[in-house]
Amino acid sequence: MIKKRISRIMFVLFAVCLLAVFPGRFLAAQETATGQQKASCITSKCHATMGTEKFVHGPVAAGECAVCHGESSKHKDKPDKYKFKPVENVAALCYECHEKFQARKFTHLPVEEGECVACHNPHGSANKFQLTAKGGELCFECHDEEIVQGKFVHGPAAVGGCVACHEPHTSDYEKNLRAEGSNLCYMCHVDKAEAIQSAEYVHQPVADDCANCHNPHSAPKEFMLQAESPVLCLDCHDDKKEEIDNASVKHAAIEVDRNCLNCHDAHMSNIAMNLTMEPLDLCLSCHNKSYQGNDGTTIMDMKKWLVENTDHHGPIQQKDCSGCHNPHGSANFRILRNPYPESFYKPFATENYNLCFSCHEKTIVLNPETTKLTNFRNGNDNLHFLHVNKPVKGRTCRACHETHASNHPKHIRDAVPFGSWELPVNFQKTGTGGSCAPGCHKLKRYDRDKKEING
Ligand code: HEC
Ligand code: HEC
Ligand code: HEC
Ligand code: HEC
Ligand code: HEC
Ligand code: HEC
Ligand code: HEC
Ligand code: HEC
Ligand code: HEC
Ligand code: HEC
Ligand code: HEC
Ligand code: HEC
Ligand code: HEC
Repeated sequence: MIKKRISRIMFVLFAVCLLAVFPGRFLAAQETATGQQKASCITSKCHATMGTEKFVHGPVAAGECAVCHGESSKHKDKPDKYKFKPVENVAALCYECHEKFQARKFTHLPVEEGECVACHNPHGSANKFQLTAKGGELCFECHDEEIVQGKFVHGPAAVGGCVACHEPHTSDYEKNLRAEGSNLCYMCHVDKAEAIQSAEYVHQPVADDCANCHNPHSAPKEFMLQAESPVLCLDCHDDKKEEIDNASVKHAAIEVDRNCLNCHDAHMSNIAMNLTMEPLDLCLSCHNKSYQGNDGTTIMDMKKWLVENTDHHGPIQQKDCSGCHNPHGSANFRILRNPYPESFYKPFATENYNLCFSCHEKTIVLNPETTKLTNFRNGNDNLHFLHVNKPVKGRTCRACHETHASNHPKHIRDAVPFGSWELPVNFQKTGTGGSCAPGCHKLKRYDRDKKEING
């Protein structure tokens, strides 16, 4: 069998070579060489156009009709005509000369069913590989052309380069793809591949399969995306969707410009959580000006504040704004992660200050007297307790402390924000205590070692 096949191929190849050397003359020569009994099938009267296509199948070019059709016989009724045996098992015929496609996991159905001639003209055609149609047209004879009719069409699909991604015959990968998952895309998107493979953090669906977000053919949105941020993101991150929908205090950063992509890269980053910048720089890239907030209040220029006030609160020194704020929104004032009073006065309850007490000991405000729980004490009188821990007019921490940064020790503020007033605090620290002369009361001193008697 193999021998027979080889000898056939050798013969045909030989004929093809002859054809290459004596183009045009070969068929005529054969006509005379084979004499009356065995005239070529291609004459000016019969099958005249065969062999004239741009791409002619090897055996046809060699005039070897018989290798596929068998020897022709004279037509019974019309003696000047010849009769062919119809080809019965096309694929088996092709495989007599061509290597059978390697058995792989996935075989394109028309190939499995031996319909080689659905795509290849056995004689010749205007297209390479004697294909019956060019590029995508071939595929669209059986597949729906809709796949490339989205508003944004992928370059190779737009120009009919289907076989750049799909093996027409057999493949090891589902959908007859040439490679699996993201590796398919990396065949061409070499720069993206490099960027992704060298990044420290890669978004999981990107590592898995680009087609999680991009349609390889076409889609309604730019970059062949089915949807844009934030819908694209929230389709998978449904817990985030819930969090954002339920947030009574929204962060405008999610609603403006590029939404999620204001802060996250869709593919990869060298910063955890696929952030586009270091966390603090990210926040300050927008908070470098003041805003008119949704609630009518003015939101200060935080960058300027941090430049002008050099003693930064611990978490800000660690460049972590998200320790206190939830960038995705929250149920608390100022998108805080934990409750913190909005007002100057607030009846005391520990949970009102969960924000501060998520990092600091709540014991600083719980006992009227202490010798160690806080340094803000006069003798053993706990001045935190005295100011904050009141059933009605408890002063909130902001009465004395700046949250982000200040130029005074212990983040004490310049001035107390009392209504539309700003009352200077005039805080002076000493080795064992300090003094304040705010607009709230006259100068008072405290000393941990020797209780001050303030008149
Ligand atoms: C590689 C094998 C092969 C060779 C060589 C070949 N044919 Fe065919 N031919 C076929 C197959 C297969 C079909 C059936 C096509 C189909 O079903 O669409 C066919 C069909 C035909 C038909 C039917 C009409 C048509 O075009 O579908 C004619 C006529 C024909 N061949 C003539 C020739 C002539 C003349 C030659 C030599 C110049 C030739 N063939 C060489 C395989 C071949
Ligand atoms: C008698 C042997 C023979 C048979 C049978 C045969 N082919 Fe071929 N085929 C050849 C030869 C010889 C070439 C030219 C090889 C070359 O150019 O490398 C060729 C070339 C081709 C090519 C172009 C390949 C290329 O790399 O350019 C395709 C496609 C093809 N054949 C498909 C078929 C199909 C489909 C069938 C069955 C209908 C078939 N062949 C049957 C001998 C055969
Ligand atoms: C669905 C359409 C389709 C069917 C069915 C099909 N082919 Fe092809 N075939 C193609 C396309 C498209 C190419 C060109 C691939 C490329 O450009 O890389 C090709 C290329 C070829 C080639 C030359 C390149 C190679 O891969 O070796 C041969 C030989 C070939 N086909 C034989 C066959 C045979 C034999 C069958 C039937 C068992 C068959 N084809 C069925 C579409 C098809
Ligand atoms: C002669 C008809 C025919 C042609 C031409 C054809 N296909 Fe197919 N193709 C089928 C059939 C039938 C199936 C199996 C049924 C299905 O899943 O739609 C299939 C399946 C597929 C699948 C896999 C679908 C799956 O679910 O696994 C892909 C991918 C595919 N074809 C791509 C192509 C490409 C690319 C071309 C052009 C090179 C092409 N087809 C040309 C008939 C064809
Ligand atoms: C950039 C690579 C690429 C190109 C180019 C490409 N495809 Fe695909 N195709 C894919 C991938 C990846 C899938 C699998 C998609 C999925 O699973 O959602 C696919 C799936 C398919 C399917 C199966 C669809 C289904 O729903 O099961 C068909 C049919 C298909 N492609 C046809 C084509 C045709 C026709 C062309 C040319 C117009 C083409 N493809 C061009 C990558 C490509
Ligand atoms: C056969 C090569 C090839 C493959 C494989 C390929 N692409 Fe492309 N892709 C291109 C070409 C060419 C363009 C158009 C040129 C450009 O804009 O960079 C393009 C453009 C794109 C674009 C739009 C880029 C822009 O800036 O507008 C996206 C997104 C894209 N491809 C994603 C993918 C995905 C996802 C895959 C894998 C499913 C993939 N590509 C596989 C060749 C390829
Ligand atoms: C989680 C969804 C998602 C996945 C998965 C994904 N992308 Fe994207 N891709 C996007 C979004 C969103 C954009 C638009 C980005 C923008 O506007 O900055 C985009 C844009 C692109 C672009 C064009 C702009 C650019 O950044 O160059 C290319 C090319 C691209 N993606 C390729 C890929 C490749 C290759 C893969 C797989 C390795 C992939 N994408 C996986 C969501 C995704
Ligand atoms: C196809 C589903 C899918 C889409 C679409 C998607 N993601 Fe993801 N994302 C995941 C999975 C899976 C993980 C990893 C598991 C996890 O942490 O939940 C992840 C993780 C993340 C992470 C955490 C990264 C880390 O290091 O833990 C962020 C941030 C993220 N995605 C943001 C986005 C943004 C922004 C978008 C829109 C551009 C988006 N995602 C779209 C599936 C998706
Ligand atoms: C203002 C910047 C910003 C915007 C806008 C933003 N994020 Fe984030 N995101 C962050 C930061 C900072 C983190 C890491 C700190 C944290 O866990 O909250 C993060 C973490 C995440 C995480 C992983 C950890 C977690 O909380 O589950 C996911 C998932 C995520 N974001 C999805 C999204 C999605 C989806 C959108 C758009 C709807 C979005 N983000 C918009 C800044 C942002
Ligand atoms: C893309 C720009 C952008 C980025 C990045 C951004 N923000 Fe915002 N943020 C805004 C805008 C705009 C407002 C004004 C909100 C409004 O209209 O109420 C705002 C408001 C706020 C508010 C006040 C919310 C309120 O309404 O009470 C806080 C607190 C805040 N941002 C913190 C942060 C933190 C922390 C980060 C970094 C994780 C960050 N922002 C990153 C744009 C941004
Ligand atoms: C220790 C917790 C904490 C950290 C860390 C923190 N904040 Fe705040 N932030 C707050 C609190 C509490 C408020 C409300 C302050 C008030 O009204 O007294 C606030 C208010 C804000 C406001 C609204 C300001 C206004 O004018 O009302 C912005 C904007 C803001 N923070 C941005 C940031 C940025 C950017 C960072 C990182 C550089 C950051 N925050 C770090 C606790 C924090
Ligand atoms: C995310 C954790 C965190 C939160 C929330 C937090 N802090 Fe802090 N705070 C720190 C760290 C860390 C330091 C630095 C401690 C050190 O240097 O010993 C610090 C230092 C301080 C100091 C100066 C202490 C000293 O001894 O220098 C004061 C005052 C302060 N915080 C007040 C507050 C107030 C008021 C709140 C609530 C609005 C708050 N903190 C919320 C982490 C936090
Ligand atoms: C009436 C002004 C005032 C109020 C209100 C106030 N503090 Fe203080 N706090 C101070 C002073 C003054 C110090 C510095 C004590 C010293 O070191 O001499 C201080 C110190 C601190 C320290 C450093 C550790 C310690 O206890 O010495 C923390 C933490 C702190 N305060 C947190 C808070 C929190 C949280 C609130 C709100 C629940 C709050 N403060 C309310 C004035 C105040």
